[in-house]
Amino acid sequence: MNIMGGFLYKILILCLGGVILLTFSGFSLDQELDEKVQSFLESHRFGWRDMNVPEIDGRILYNIILENNYTQALEIGTSTGHSAIWIAWALSKTGGKLVTIEIDERRYKEALNNFEQAGLSEYIDAQLADAHELVPELEGPFDFVFIDADKGWYTNYAKAVIPKMKSGGCIAGHNVYQPSRSRWARQTGTSEFYEFMLEQEEFETSILEESQAGVSVSYKKK
Ligand SMILES: C[S@@+](CC[C@H](N)C(=O)[O-])C[C@H]1O[C@@H](n2cnc3c(N)ncnc32)[C@H](O)[C@@H]1O
Repeated sequence: MNIMGGFLYKILILCLGGVILLTFSGFSLDQELDEKVQSFLESHRFGWRDMNVPEIDGRILYNIILENNYTQALEIGTSTGHSAIWIAWALSKTGGKLVTIEIDERRYKEALNNFEQAGLSEYIDAQLADAHELVPELEGPFDFVFIDADKGWYTNYAKAVIPKMKSGGCIAGHNVYQPSRSRWARQTGTSEFYEFMLEQEEFETSILEESQAGVSVSYKKK
């Protein structure tokens, strides 16, 4: 090997070493975050008292985001942040970000504290606002929307976000049941929302069997 060849060879080895180092340090950072979120969720498992989603629904949202590689998420109804933590954890893996809206200041502040403790603040833009006003103003686009605020307003939220949904995106609703099976859902308005989503021809809507608390999903056709 001549001098030039030896020089290029050394550069190549150095570059390769750099790539390996970056790959492994990225890997260990991901692992660190996973451990931090898991330990936060574990220590708070029985401490969610503010109308928060059950753990299984958090996992459902997490899986939907990962399976579809969603990156632009909106949550309406943060409360103290349980569902937002599952959503943002998934987004930390897809390179995405969550905008989440809460009207109650005490819950909003507690959510901020929870996001910090879980190590997920950088993936969450938490807004203290009335979603009735803020949602229509948001520019989007979104590929994942989770509606979990005032039930009587679900249809209005859907009307505001539908034009901002990306193709293949998903609008999920919480506490949504088959209207024939729940008087509560008919009275609160989530049935009206479900029926409205069924009428939207560019969406495929269903209710997920695995959730006891009623999770509807409406996927925008590609
Ligand atoms: C069912 S809880 C959300 C639970 C949350 N997704 C979780 O799992 O932790 C509903 C929240 O929506 C909030 N909310 C109700 N009406 C709202 C509005 N107009 N704008 C913003 N937030 C609202 C309530 O204050 C409440 O904290």
